[in-house]
Amino acid sequence: MVYEPQEDSFLLKEFVARYARGNVLDMGTGSGIQAREAAHSAKVSRVLAVDIDKGSLAYAKKHSNGKWHRKISWLHSDLFSKVPPKKYAHTFDTIIFNPPYLPQEGRFRHIDLEGGKEGHETIARFLEGASHYLKKDGQILLVFSSLTPHVRELVEKNLYVAEELGKKHVFFEDVIVWLLRPNPAGAELDGKGVCCLRYFAQGKRGLVFVGKRAGKAVAVKIKKQSSESPTGVAHEAAMLRIVNKEGIGPKFILSTEHALVYEFVRGKLLREIREKNELVGVAMKVLNQCFTLDRLQINKQEMTRPWKHVIVKGSKVTMIDFERARKTSSPHNVTQFCQFIGNNLDRKHKKKWVALAKGYSEDKSEMALKKMQEVLRALRN
Ligand SMILES: C[S@@+](CC[C@H](N)C(=O)[O-])C[C@H]1O[C@@H](n2cnc3c(N)ncnc32)[C@H](O)[C@@H]1O
Repeated sequence: MVYEPQEDSFLLKEFVARYARGNVLDMGTGSGIQAREAAHSAKVSRVLAVDIDKGSLAYAKKHSNGKWHRKISWLHSDLFSKVPPKKYAHTFDTIIFNPPYLPQEGRFRHIDLEGGKEGHETIARFLEGASHYLKKDGQILLVFSSLTPHVRELVEKNLYVAEELGKKHVFFEDVIVWLLRPNPAGAELDGKGVCCLRYFAQGKRGLVFVGKRAGKAVAVKIKKQSSESPTGVAHEAAMLRIVNKEGIGPKFILSTEHALVYEFVRGKLLREIREKNELVGVAMKVLNQCFTLDRLQINKQEMTRPWKHVIVKGSKVTMIDFERARKTSSPHNVTQFCQFIGNNLDRKHKKKWVALAKGYSEDKSEMALKKMQEVLRALRN
């Protein structure tokens, strides 16, 4: 069914007139409203208009017979599936998409309105495909609703940065237009020989991607656009350099203005270890590393909840995430980690442990550390 232009179409159209340039792709063209608007601009050379619905394409074609409209060609395709990948690789300066973005209500999906069960699914598939077709300095004009979940997350995972161009309140929702540009980290990393980034995980402040450098897997951390943390990747890079000298943390490889690249550490997270002897062995190694950090007067933070911050592979134990690490005259890595261990001990051992931890916090001596290690050793079967 042809989508009759609505508030979202008219809001987007304003920005198409202002922003569309060069070679343009109008995804989900519907009535052809955006393709025609783009074609009218002297800044636009060509427009490829795509829709999954043949009826819409026929309608749009029929109503695009002005002289400007000769710039437009039409293609029937489910998103990028029929857009020839070789011919169009990194060719579009502007991609426009007013997608179906509402959550599905009934048994059958309205393809012009509903993006999937939750609403964001078509946007997710679109963003995964778009980077192959967009020029490195290209732009995407994307519409969605305040009812569409996860859009910010999807944008960041696909390595774009977003700028809000417009918002309009319509009945019970806000319709929003974003301008997406490739995250500058991508180009910076390209220049340093790091390629093939794939989303891996996210924390509160950053996203981690797995990439390749000189044929080897590397981890790439990029600060989230939504993060309010005042420190950038340079800070974590500096911390890693210091702790690496003591054999702590993943090996620092390089950093750029927006990205930190370090050794991709394979293994299991502390929280995935079930076997008691293994847990105790890992705890002893982490305790040692915490002691070294105390000596370096660096607070790693988060050592009371290290479940996701320690990776174990065979006998190697690597603490990760140094973005919150700080130089300090009163380090408390051992104390924090002792608290974590204490919380996981039975009552009998806990009392003794708390007394020893107190002893350590008073003099921070190697002797006090040894006493704690003895208790841990005795926990092994
Ligand atoms: C909300 S309408 C927008 C139409 C027009 N661009 C506008 O701004 O008024 C969404 C359009 O996307 C098309 N569409 C939905 N899923 C699609 C897909 N997977 N691939 C291509 N087009 C799709 C629909 O057929 C519909 O024409």
